[in-house]
Amino acid sequence: MATTNRYDVKDLALAGEGVRRIEWADRQMPVLAAIRDRFEREQPLAGYRVSACLHVTTETANLARALKAGGADVVLCASNPLSTQDDVAAALVEEHDISVFAIKGEDNDTYYQHLEAAIDHRPHITMDDGADVIGVLHSHRREQLGDVLAGTEETTTGVIRLRALERDGKLGFPVVAVNEARTKHLFDNRYGTGQSTIDGIVRATNVLLAGKRFVVAGYGWVGRGVAMRARGMGAHVIVTEVDPMRALEAAMDGFEVLSMESAAAVGDIFCTATGDKHVLTHEHFGLLKNGAILANTGHFNVEIDIPALRDLAVETREARQFVDEFTFPDGRSVYLVGDGRLVNLAAAEGHPALVMDMSFANQALSAEYVVQNAASLERKVYVVPTEIDEEIARLKLATMGISIDQLTEEQQRYLDSWDEGT
Ligand SMILES: NC(=O)c1ccc[n+]([C@@H]2O[C@H](COP(=O)([O-])OP(=O)(O)OC[C@H]3O[C@@H](n4cnc5c(N)ncnc54)[C@H](O)[C@@H]3O)[C@@H](O)[C@H]2O)c1
Repeated sequence: MATTNRYDVKDLALAGEGVRRIEWADRQMPVLAAIRDRFEREQPLAGYRVSACLHVTTETANLARALKAGGADVVLCASNPLSTQDDVAAALVEEHDISVFAIKGEDNDTYYQHLEAAIDHRPHITMDDGADVIGVLHSHRREQLGDVLAGTEETTTGVIRLRALERDGKLGFPVVAVNEARTKHLFDNRYGTGQSTIDGIVRATNVLLAGKRFVVAGYGWVGRGVAMRARGMGAHVIVTEVDPMRALEAAMDGFEVLSMESAAAVGDIFCTATGDKHVLTHEHFGLLKNGAILANTGHFNVEIDIPALRDLAVETREARQFVDEFTFPDGRSVYLVGDGRLVNLAAAEGHPALVMDMSFANQALSAEYVVQNAASLERKVYVVPTEIDEEIARLKLATMGISIDQLTEEQQRYLDSWDEGT
């Protein structure tokens, strides 16, 4: 393990492989590359310290490079103990001179030590994926709250926590909810998670999806993506929901909608995508078929009640890498993938770079936005400004060689009026 107070990564000798993989991702991140080029020229983040707590992957490495190109002093730690790519962590330290505190598989204590190390950097800007840095700053590091200009938050679960802080009047600085950008959740939550979740389940288990009953819990942005892609692989997809509108949408999209109690008895593969807790729990485990596979792609590992699963099992063993087998007293076995953590990161490589290009373009431009607008921002959760969203969509279309029509002046007038042309 390579440790100094500037970094803590598994092995700096892995850097060469990391460099190659970061370059590979960069080729599929043209929007962020365009922003990096402009940042290099304009230096919008010069003099600002950034503490980023994100999945330490090739794509995040390219975000860190863009921020650094813009003049920021960046420290990176992991937002999940299993998602770190050790070669990338090493490459960031060795090749890009960026401090990283992250080791794949680190225990809980190390995970939190790394988080504290990122906060020791005394950030002006925080970047979170699950509100961990902001959580620590609002608990025992409150003396640093005043140093922070603003934060950004990548995912739904983090935004929910931050809105709760804001509601209680306790949010210590403004935060931009990157998750709420249309260019983020359309690409990331739906298309990115849709593909990479299936990838994680297949890599871990090598199951054939065709003909299987695949249960998706939650039909939000993520659930819709997973359901769509599982259907594309030939699975019979069943959706469970608690929101009547979303349940109706799933039914109208042609999926079977069942309660989890009914789905538990018929499903072959389960994937939770709710951001909620105990979606699959004791009462459902008793109903599962022998051989059922359980995975989660929601942010925290609480969607599947793993302590209850352990309690119920008479025997537990690792069946394959990233797959644990739980055998119940009646002889049935069920399989938990990736310890119930985000399966696309635990057992695959997270989102394809092209997807993260959109998310991280939002992160980079949001960092620039908070620096430029620090004086006028209040202690609130802000959505990404429409101009940023549209700028990213335009840049993306340009990289795809797609040009679209513009409203004519006549059309604009017509759409803005209430009495013209009726
Ligand atoms: N794996 C990834 O890479 C990845 C990417 C983006 C988001 N996420 C995470 O995925 C989760 C879902 O995100 P989203 O953007 O789809 O959120 P969302 O709010 O759009 O959707 C969540 C859905 O789950 C439903 N739900 C809540 N409790 C439920 C229950 N007990 N049973 C069935 N349905 C229930 C809600 O009604 C809602 O429709 C969050 O935790 C988010 O942070 C993961």
